[in-house]
Amino acid sequence: MKIEKPRGTRDFTAEEMEERDYVENVLSGVFKAYGYKKIRTPTFEHMELFTLKSGDEISAHMYVFEDKKGRKLCLRPEETASVCRMFSETLRMQAKPLKLYYFDPMFRYEEPQKGRYREFWQLGLELIGPKGPESDAEAISVAYDSLKKLGLGFRLEIGHLGIVKGLLADRNIAEDIQKKAISCIDKNDHAGLRKLTDEPLLFELIALKGGKEVIGKAEDRLKDSKKAVAALMELKEILSYLDVLGVEYTLNLGVARGLEYYTGMVFEIRVPDLGAQSQICGGGRYDNLIELFSGISVPAVGFAYGFDRVSEALQMQGIKRPEDKGGIIVAPASPEMKKEAMKIASDLRKTRVVGYDLMDRKLGKILEYAAERGAAYVVIVGRKDYSEGVVTLRNMLSGEQREMKIGEIEKALI
Ligand code: HAM
Repeated sequence: MKIEKPRGTRDFTAEEMEERDYVENVLSGVFKAYGYKKIRTPTFEHMELFTLKSGDEISAHMYVFEDKKGRKLCLRPEETASVCRMFSETLRMQAKPLKLYYFDPMFRYEEPQKGRYREFWQLGLELIGPKGPESDAEAISVAYDSLKKLGLGFRLEIGHLGIVKGLLADRNIAEDIQKKAISCIDKNDHAGLRKLTDEPLLFELIALKGGKEVIGKAEDRLKDSKKAVAALMELKEILSYLDVLGVEYTLNLGVARGLEYYTGMVFEIRVPDLGAQSQICGGGRYDNLIELFSGISVPAVGFAYGFDRVSEALQMQGIKRPEDKGGIIVAPASPEMKKEAMKIASDLRKTRVVGYDLMDRKLGKILEYAAERGAAYVVIVGRKDYSEGVVTLRNMLSGEQREMKIGEIEKALI
Protein backbone atom coordinates (compact mmCIF):
# COMPACT_ATOMS: atom_id res chain seq x y z
CA MET A 1 0.00 0.00 0.00
CA LYS A 2 1.36 3.39 -0.97
CA ILE A 3 0.83 6.11 1.64
CA GLU A 4 1.86 9.67 0.91
CA LYS A 5 2.31 12.56 3.30
CA PRO A 6 -0.80 14.70 3.88
CA ARG A 7 -1.33 17.66 1.54
CA GLY A 8 0.41 20.83 2.71
CA THR A 9 3.00 18.98 4.84
CA ARG A 10 6.64 18.36 4.02
CA ASP A 11 9.50 15.99 4.81
CA PHE A 12 12.87 17.61 5.47
CA THR A 13 16.09 15.86 4.48
CA ALA A 14 19.12 15.82 6.77
CA GLU A 15 20.76 18.54 4.62
CA GLU A 16 17.63 20.70 4.81
CA MET A 17 17.48 20.25 8.58
CA GLU A 18 21.11 21.34 8.91
CA GLU A 19 20.27 24.50 6.99
CA ARG A 20 17.14 25.10 9.09
CA ASP A 21 19.01 24.50 12.37
CA TYR A 22 21.58 27.07 11.28
CA VAL A 23 18.89 29.67 10.51
CA GLU A 24 17.09 28.96 13.79
CA ASN A 25 20.32 29.30 15.77
CA VAL A 26 21.29 32.62 14.19
CA LEU A 27 17.83 34.14 14.69
CA SER A 28 17.31 32.82 18.21
CA GLY A 29 20.90 33.79 19.09
CA VAL A 30 19.86 37.43 18.63
CA PHE A 31 16.64 36.86 20.64
CA LYS A 32 18.78 35.49 23.47
CA ALA A 33 21.14 38.46 23.29
CA TYR A 34 18.10 40.66 24.02
CA GLY A 35 17.30 38.44 27.03
CA TYR A 36 14.45 36.34 25.59
CA LYS A 37 14.01 32.73 26.79
CA LYS A 38 12.48 29.78 24.97
CA ILE A 39 9.15 28.25 26.02
CA ARG A 40 6.88 25.58 24.56
CA THR A 41 3.08 25.24 24.69
CA PRO A 42 0.90 22.25 23.70
CA THR A 43 0.43 21.38 20.03
CA PHE A 44 -3.33 21.24 20.60
CA GLU A 45 -5.49 23.52 22.74
CA HIS A 46 -9.18 24.05 23.52
CA MET A 47 -10.71 25.47 20.37
CA GLU A 48 -12.14 28.56 22.12
CA LEU A 49 -8.63 29.81 22.84
CA PHE A 50 -8.38 30.78 19.18
CA THR A 51 -12.02 31.49 18.30
CA LEU A 52 -12.42 34.08 21.09
CA LYS A 53 -10.18 36.78 19.69
CA SER A 54 -7.98 35.64 16.84
CA GLY A 55 -10.59 36.53 14.21
CA ASP A 56 -12.41 34.84 11.32
CA GLU A 57 -9.27 34.62 9.22
CA ILE A 58 -7.78 32.15 11.71
CA SER A 59 -11.01 30.42 12.82
CA ALA A 60 -11.92 29.52 9.24
CA HIS A 61 -8.64 27.67 8.77
CA MET A 62 -8.36 25.67 11.96
CA TYR A 63 -7.86 21.92 12.33
CA VAL A 64 -10.63 21.15 14.83
CA PHE A 65 -11.37 17.71 16.27
CA GLU A 66 -13.19 16.08 19.15
CA ASP A 67 -11.39 13.87 21.64
CA LYS A 68 -12.92 10.69 23.09
CA LYS A 69 -14.71 12.72 25.77
CA GLY A 70 -16.27 15.04 23.20
CA ARG A 71 -14.04 18.05 23.97
CA LYS A 72 -13.53 20.41 21.06
CA LEU A 73 -9.81 20.77 20.51
CA CYS A 74 -7.71 22.21 17.72
CA LEU A 75 -4.15 22.08 16.47
CA ARG A 76 -2.68 25.49 17.24
CA PRO A 77 -2.89 27.85 14.23
CA GLU A 78 -0.61 30.38 15.99
CA GLU A 79 1.00 30.66 19.42
CA THR A 80 0.33 34.14 20.76
CA ALA A 81 -3.02 33.11 22.26
CA SER A 82 -1.34 29.99 23.75
CA VAL A 83 1.39 32.13 25.35
CA CYS A 84 -1.26 34.43 26.84
CA ARG A 85 -3.09 31.39 28.21
CA MET A 86 0.15 30.04 29.64
CA PHE A 87 0.89 33.43 31.19
CA SER A 88 -2.53 33.46 32.85
CA GLU A 89 -2.20 29.90 34.09
CA THR A 90 1.40 29.77 35.28
CA LEU A 91 3.46 32.91 34.71
CA ARG A 92 1.38 35.78 36.03
CA MET A 93 3.36 36.12 39.28
CA GLN A 94 6.73 36.37 37.52
CA ALA A 95 8.61 39.66 37.42
CA LYS A 96 7.91 41.78 34.32
CA PRO A 97 8.81 42.23 31.62
CA LEU A 98 8.51 38.61 30.58
CA LYS A 99 10.62 37.97 27.51
CA LEU A 100 9.59 34.75 25.82
CA TYR A 101 10.14 33.07 22.47
CA TYR A 102 9.09 29.83 20.75
CA PHE A 103 9.91 27.79 17.69
CA ASP A 104 7.07 25.43 16.89
CA PRO A 105 4.91 24.02 14.10
CA MET A 106 1.55 25.73 13.45
CA PHE A 107 -1.39 24.26 11.52
CA ARG A 108 -3.74 26.09 9.18
CA TYR A 109 -6.07 24.45 6.68
CA GLU A 110 -5.17 26.71 3.77
CA GLU A 111 -4.79 26.09 0.05
CA PRO A 112 -1.16 24.97 -0.20
CA GLN A 113 1.20 26.75 -2.58
CA LYS A 114 4.84 27.89 -2.55
CA GLY A 115 5.40 29.54 0.85
CA ARG A 116 1.99 28.49 2.19
CA TYR A 117 1.65 25.18 3.98
CA ARG A 118 -0.81 23.42 6.25
CA GLU A 119 1.98 22.62 8.68
CA PHE A 120 4.50 25.44 8.95
CA TRP A 121 6.93 26.71 11.54
CA GLN A 122 6.90 30.00 13.38
CA LEU A 123 9.76 31.46 15.35
CA GLY A 124 7.92 33.95 17.50
CA LEU A 125 8.58 36.27 20.40
CA GLU A 126 6.33 37.88 23.02
CA LEU A 127 7.27 40.76 25.31
CA ILE A 128 4.75 40.79 28.17
CA GLY A 129 4.30 43.62 30.67
CA PRO A 130 5.61 46.89 29.24
CA LYS A 131 3.45 49.43 27.45
CA GLY A 132 5.78 52.26 26.43
CA PRO A 133 7.01 52.99 22.88
CA GLU A 134 10.47 51.64 23.85
CA SER A 135 8.95 48.15 24.09
CA ASP A 136 7.33 48.41 20.64
CA ALA A 137 10.68 49.59 19.32
CA GLU A 138 12.47 46.68 21.01
CA ALA A 139 10.14 44.09 19.46
CA ILE A 140 10.64 45.59 16.01
CA SER A 141 14.39 45.86 16.42
CA VAL A 142 14.79 42.20 17.52
CA ALA A 143 12.91 41.17 14.36
CA TYR A 144 15.08 43.47 12.26
CA ASP A 145 18.48 42.69 13.83
CA SER A 146 17.97 38.93 13.64
CA LEU A 147 17.28 38.98 9.90
CA LYS A 148 20.20 41.38 9.34
CA LYS A 149 22.46 38.91 11.16
CA LEU A 150 21.54 36.33 8.51
CA GLY A 151 22.41 38.81 5.77
CA LEU A 152 18.88 38.80 4.33
CA GLY A 153 17.51 41.67 2.21
CA PHE A 154 13.96 42.65 3.27
CA ARG A 155 11.50 45.51 3.75
CA LEU A 156 10.07 46.46 7.14
CA GLU A 157 6.70 48.26 7.10
CA ILE A 158 5.22 49.81 10.23
CA GLY A 159 1.72 51.12 10.91
CA HIS A 160 -0.61 51.73 13.86
CA LEU A 161 -4.19 50.45 14.12
CA GLY A 162 -5.09 53.29 16.50
CA ILE A 163 -4.95 55.75 13.61
CA VAL A 164 -7.73 54.17 11.51
CA LYS A 165 -9.68 53.03 14.58
CA GLY A 166 -9.32 56.49 16.18
CA LEU A 167 -10.57 58.24 13.05
CA LEU A 168 -13.59 55.93 12.79
CA ALA A 169 -14.33 56.21 16.54
CA ASP A 170 -14.20 60.01 16.35
CA ARG A 171 -16.69 59.75 13.45
CA ASN A 172 -18.95 57.70 15.78
CA ILE A 173 -18.56 54.51 13.79
CA ALA A 174 -19.31 51.46 15.97
CA GLU A 175 -16.52 49.16 17.11
CA ASP A 176 -17.75 46.10 15.18
CA ILE A 177 -17.69 48.15 11.97
CA GLN A 178 -14.18 49.36 12.87
CA LYS A 179 -13.13 45.70 13.17
CA LYS A 180 -14.67 44.85 9.80
CA ALA A 181 -12.96 47.87 8.26
CA ILE A 182 -9.57 46.70 9.57
CA SER A 183 -10.21 43.26 8.09
CA CYS A 184 -11.07 44.80 4.68
CA ILE A 185 -7.89 46.92 4.80
CA ASP A 186 -5.86 43.80 5.58
CA LYS A 187 -7.35 42.00 2.57
CA ASN A 188 -6.98 45.07 0.36
CA ASP A 189 -10.74 44.89 -0.19
CA HIS A 190 -11.54 48.51 -1.01
CA ALA A 191 -15.01 47.72 -2.36
CA GLY A 192 -15.89 45.99 0.94
CA LEU A 193 -14.44 48.93 2.87
CA ARG A 194 -16.55 51.40 0.88
CA LYS A 195 -19.68 49.47 1.83
CA LEU A 196 -18.81 50.00 5.51
CA THR A 197 -17.89 53.67 5.36
CA ASP A 198 -17.49 56.38 2.77
CA GLU A 199 -15.18 58.46 4.99
CA PRO A 200 -12.83 59.83 2.28
CA LEU A 201 -10.03 60.50 4.74
CA LEU A 202 -9.82 56.78 5.51
CA PHE A 203 -8.90 55.94 1.92
CA GLU A 204 -6.29 58.71 1.83
CA LEU A 205 -4.79 57.53 5.12
CA ILE A 206 -4.37 53.89 4.22
CA ALA A 207 -2.63 54.89 0.99
CA LEU A 208 0.04 56.84 2.90
CA LYS A 209 3.39 55.13 2.61
CA GLY A 210 7.00 56.32 2.83
CA GLY A 211 9.51 57.83 5.24
CA LYS A 212 8.96 59.94 8.34
CA GLU A 213 7.26 62.64 6.24
CA VAL A 214 4.17 60.38 6.34
CA ILE A 215 3.63 61.43 9.98
CA GLY A 216 3.37 65.10 9.01
CA LYS A 217 1.09 64.34 6.05
CA ALA A 218 -1.24 62.26 8.23
CA GLU A 219 -1.22 64.86 11.00
CA ASP A 220 -2.35 67.59 8.57
CA ARG A 221 -5.28 65.46 7.48
CA LEU A 222 -6.28 64.23 10.95
CA LYS A 223 -6.40 67.55 12.83
CA ASP A 224 -10.03 67.11 13.90
CA SER A 225 -9.60 63.52 15.13
CA LYS A 226 -8.02 63.56 18.58
CA LYS A 227 -7.84 59.78 18.98
CA ALA A 228 -6.17 59.27 15.61
CA VAL A 229 -3.60 62.01 16.33
CA ALA A 230 -2.79 60.44 19.72
CA ALA A 231 -2.03 57.14 17.97
CA LEU A 232 0.00 58.95 15.33
CA MET A 233 2.10 60.64 18.03
CA GLU A 234 2.69 57.28 19.69
CA LEU A 235 3.90 55.93 16.37
CA LYS A 236 6.18 58.95 15.98
CA GLU A 237 7.75 58.20 19.35
CA ILE A 238 8.28 54.54 18.48
CA LEU A 239 10.10 55.69 15.34
CA SER A 240 12.34 57.98 17.36
CA TYR A 241 13.57 54.93 19.30
CA LEU A 242 14.00 52.93 16.10
CA ASP A 243 16.20 55.75 14.76
CA VAL A 244 18.43 55.42 17.84
CA LEU A 245 18.63 51.66 17.23
CA GLY A 246 19.54 52.16 13.55
CA VAL A 247 16.48 50.30 12.24
CA GLU A 248 15.49 51.20 8.66
CA TYR A 249 11.76 51.18 7.98
CA THR A 250 8.93 52.28 5.71
CA LEU A 251 5.81 53.73 7.25
CA ASN A 252 2.63 52.23 5.84
CA LEU A 253 -0.63 53.33 7.44
CA GLY A 254 -2.40 50.62 5.45
CA VAL A 255 -0.77 47.76 7.43
CA ALA A 256 -3.74 46.16 9.20
CA ARG A 257 -2.91 42.46 10.05
CA GLY A 258 -5.32 39.55 9.73
CA LEU A 259 -5.53 38.70 13.44
CA GLU A 260 -8.09 40.55 15.52
CA TYR A 261 -6.24 40.98 18.81
CA TYR A 262 -3.92 43.83 17.80
CA THR A 263 -4.55 47.16 19.49
CA GLY A 264 -1.74 49.54 18.48
CA MET A 265 1.51 49.46 16.51
CA VAL A 266 1.57 46.75 13.84
CA PHE A 267 4.36 45.72 11.50
CA GLU A 268 5.13 43.35 8.65
CA ILE A 269 8.36 42.30 7.00
CA ARG A 270 8.33 41.40 3.33
CA VAL A 271 10.77 39.92 0.85
CA PRO A 272 9.19 40.96 -2.47
CA ASP A 273 11.12 38.32 -4.53
CA LEU A 274 9.02 35.64 -2.80
CA GLY A 275 5.98 36.66 -4.84
CA ALA A 276 2.48 36.00 -3.52
CA GLN A 277 3.64 34.81 -0.08
CA SER A 278 6.16 37.58 0.49
CA GLN A 279 5.30 38.31 4.12
CA ILE A 280 7.97 36.63 6.22
CA CYS A 281 7.07 38.21 9.54
CA GLY A 282 4.12 39.88 11.23
CA GLY A 283 3.51 41.34 14.64
CA GLY A 284 2.31 44.16 16.78
CA ARG A 285 0.91 45.30 20.12
CA TYR A 286 -1.99 43.43 21.72
CA ASP A 287 -2.94 45.00 25.04
CA ASN A 288 -6.28 43.23 25.69
CA LEU A 289 -5.63 39.57 24.91
CA ILE A 290 -4.17 38.54 28.28
CA GLU A 291 -7.06 40.22 30.11
CA LEU A 292 -9.46 38.03 28.15
CA PHE A 293 -7.95 34.89 29.71
CA SER A 294 -6.83 36.15 33.11
CA GLY A 295 -9.07 39.06 34.00
CA ILE A 296 -6.03 41.24 34.70
CA SER A 297 -4.94 43.84 32.22
CA VAL A 298 -1.39 43.15 31.02
CA PRO A 299 -0.08 44.84 27.87
CA ALA A 300 2.10 42.93 25.41
CA VAL A 301 3.79 43.15 22.03
CA GLY A 302 5.33 40.50 19.81
CA PHE A 303 5.85 39.04 16.37
CA ALA A 304 6.40 35.76 14.55
CA TYR A 305 8.53 34.88 11.57
CA GLY A 306 7.13 32.48 9.05
CA PHE A 307 10.25 30.35 9.40
CA ASP A 308 9.74 28.43 6.13
CA ARG A 309 9.46 31.69 4.22
CA VAL A 310 12.61 33.06 5.87
CA SER A 311 14.44 29.90 4.74
CA GLU A 312 13.03 30.20 1.22
CA ALA A 313 14.01 33.89 1.05
CA LEU A 314 17.58 33.01 2.09
CA GLN A 315 17.76 30.36 -0.59
CA MET A 316 16.39 32.75 -3.19
CA GLN A 317 19.00 35.37 -2.26
CA GLY A 318 21.76 32.74 -2.43
CA ILE A 319 22.62 33.01 1.28
CA LYS A 320 24.03 29.76 2.65
CA ARG A 321 25.24 28.68 6.06
CA PRO A 322 29.03 28.69 6.45
CA GLU A 323 30.52 25.38 5.32
CA ASP A 324 31.15 23.16 8.30
CA LYS A 325 34.51 21.47 8.67
CA GLY A 326 33.38 18.13 7.26
CA GLY A 327 33.51 14.92 9.21
CA ILE A 328 36.14 12.24 9.59
CA ILE A 329 35.74 8.58 8.72
CA VAL A 330 37.92 5.91 10.25
CA ALA A 331 38.48 2.97 7.92
CA PRO A 332 40.08 -0.39 8.70
CA ALA A 333 42.41 -1.32 5.82
CA SER A 334 41.47 -4.99 6.37
CA PRO A 335 38.70 -6.77 8.34
CA GLU A 336 40.96 -7.83 11.23
CA MET A 337 41.57 -4.13 12.08
CA LYS A 338 37.86 -3.32 12.74
CA LYS A 339 38.13 -3.10 16.53
CA GLU A 340 41.31 -0.98 16.43
CA ALA A 341 39.66 1.41 13.94
CA MET A 342 36.55 1.58 16.11
CA LYS A 343 38.64 2.53 19.16
CA ILE A 344 40.41 5.31 17.23
CA ALA A 345 37.02 6.63 16.02
CA SER A 346 35.72 6.64 19.56
CA ASP A 347 38.74 8.62 20.86
CA LEU A 348 38.58 11.21 18.05
CA ARG A 349 34.84 11.72 18.59
CA LYS A 350 35.61 13.70 21.75
CA THR A 351 36.41 16.72 19.57
CA ARG A 352 35.11 16.03 16.03
CA VAL A 353 32.27 14.42 14.13
CA VAL A 354 33.59 10.94 13.38
CA GLY A 355 32.06 8.07 11.44
CA TYR A 356 33.11 4.45 11.25
CA ASP A 357 32.28 2.06 8.42
CA LEU A 358 29.33 -0.07 9.50
CA MET A 359 28.69 -1.59 6.08
CA ASP A 360 31.66 -3.94 6.01
CA ARG A 361 33.04 -2.28 2.87
CA LYS A 362 36.49 -2.60 1.36
CA LEU A 363 38.84 0.38 1.77
CA GLY A 364 38.29 1.63 -1.81
CA LYS A 365 34.51 1.68 -1.27
CA ILE A 366 34.89 3.46 2.07
CA LEU A 367 36.92 6.18 0.34
CA GLU A 368 34.21 6.54 -2.32
CA TYR A 369 31.56 6.83 0.38
CA ALA A 370 33.65 9.41 2.29
CA ALA A 371 34.02 11.53 -0.86
CA GLU A 372 30.27 11.35 -1.55
CA ARG A 373 29.40 12.42 2.01
CA GLY A 374 31.84 15.35 1.89
CA ALA A 375 34.12 13.98 4.65
CA ALA A 376 37.24 16.08 5.24
CA TYR A 377 39.54 13.17 6.23
CA VAL A 378 39.76 9.42 6.26
CA VAL A 379 41.95 7.75 8.87
CA ILE A 380 43.21 4.44 7.43
CA VAL A 381 44.13 1.81 9.99
CA GLY A 382 46.46 -0.88 8.52
CA ARG A 383 47.70 -3.94 10.39
CA LYS A 384 51.44 -3.46 9.94
CA ASP A 385 51.44 0.30 10.65
CA TYR A 386 49.15 -0.09 13.64
CA SER A 387 51.56 -2.54 15.27
CA GLU A 388 54.04 0.38 15.25
CA GLY A 389 51.41 2.87 16.55
CA VAL A 390 51.06 4.51 13.12
CA VAL A 391 48.02 5.25 10.87
CA THR A 392 47.54 7.02 7.52
CA LEU A 393 45.62 10.31 7.36
CA ARG A 394 44.10 11.06 3.94
CA ASN A 395 43.01 14.63 3.22
CA MET A 396 39.94 14.11 1.05
CA LEU A 397 40.11 17.54 -0.55
CA SER A 398 43.74 17.40 -1.71
CA GLY A 399 44.06 13.62 -1.90
CA GLU A 400 47.35 13.88 0.05
CA GLN A 401 48.16 10.99 2.45
CA ARG A 402 50.47 11.20 5.47
CA GLU A 403 51.59 8.59 7.96
CA MET A 404 51.58 9.64 11.58
CA LYS A 405 51.47 8.41 15.15
CA ILE A 406 47.92 7.85 16.45
CA GLY A 407 48.41 10.55 19.09
CA GLU A 408 49.24 13.12 16.39
CA ILE A 409 46.01 12.79 14.36
CA GLU A 410 44.09 15.44 16.24
CA LYS A 411 46.78 18.08 15.79
CA ALA A 412 46.97 17.36 12.04
CA LEU A 413 43.25 18.02 11.46
CA ILE A 414 42.29 21.48 10.25
P1 HAM B 1 0.58 35.79 11.29
O1 HAM B 1 0.81 36.99 10.44
O2 HAM B 1 -0.72 35.10 11.16
O3 HAM B 1 0.82 36.25 12.80
O4 HAM B 1 1.73 34.75 11.03
C1 HAM B 1 3.09 35.11 11.15
C2 HAM B 1 3.85 34.64 9.93
O5 HAM B 1 3.66 33.24 9.74
C3 HAM B 1 3.38 35.26 8.62
O6 HAM B 1 3.97 36.52 8.44
C4 HAM B 1 3.87 34.24 7.60
O7 HAM B 1 5.23 34.50 7.28
C5 HAM B 1 3.81 32.94 8.35
N1 HAM B 1 2.66 32.12 7.89
C6 HAM B 1 1.35 32.31 8.13
N2 HAM B 1 0.61 31.35 7.54
C7 HAM B 1 1.47 30.53 6.90
C8 HAM B 1 1.32 29.34 6.11
N3 HAM B 1 0.15 28.78 5.88
N4 HAM B 1 2.46 28.77 5.60
C9 HAM B 1 3.68 29.30 5.84
N5 HAM B 1 3.88 30.41 6.59
C10 HAM B 1 2.79 31.03 7.12
C11 HAM B 1 0.73 35.42 13.86
O8 HAM B 1 0.57 34.23 13.80
C12 HAM B 1 0.91 36.13 15.19
N6 HAM B 1 0.81 35.12 16.26
C13 HAM B 1 2.24 36.86 15.25
C14 HAM B 1 2.42 37.58 16.54
C15 HAM B 1 3.16 37.19 17.58
N7 HAM B 1 1.84 38.72 16.88
C16 HAM B 1 2.21 39.07 18.11
N8 HAM B 1 3.01 38.13 18.55
